[in-house]
Amino acid sequence: MSLADAARAVRENAYAPYSQFKVGAALRTPSGAIYAGCNVENVAYPEGTCAEAGAIAAMIAAGETEITEAYVIADSPAPVPPCGGCRQKLREFAKGDVKITMATTDGKTQVITVTDLLPGAFTNDHMDNG
Ligand code: THU
Repeated sequence: MSLADAARAVRENAYAPYSQFKVGAALRTPSGAIYAGCNVENVAYPEGTCAEAGAIAAMIAAGETEITEAYVIADSPAPVPPCGGCRQKLREFAKGDVKITMATTDGKTQVITVTDLLPGAFTNDHMDNG
């Protein structure tokens, strides 16, 4: 299954009764495996989680820690950009040149690197004060 197909399929399972905005995300790792996640909302709104967070959790649960490619899809007029928090979450496991494809369900796509999504990212290097 392609990354795009995995993201499109998992999006169908999104739990988004409050926003009605279903999002699917899929990640590839160096092993070639694909991990997918969807947004999971909650009646206590801030407790909801994004699709990217779900996909990252699935990757970590499977014992992998490196993202080589990611794909995010939603039924939006323009390719859906990861939120600020998800940009930081992706950056934790993806090098700066990793490509993120943002997509709409009707076929528009835009590809962006992790560095362009989160320029000036806070990284471990910033805590290197020794
Ligand atoms: N959402 C994601 O899952 N990923 C994104 O990249 C953008 C936003 C979700 C969060 C919430 O459930 C809904 O979309 C509306 O904000």
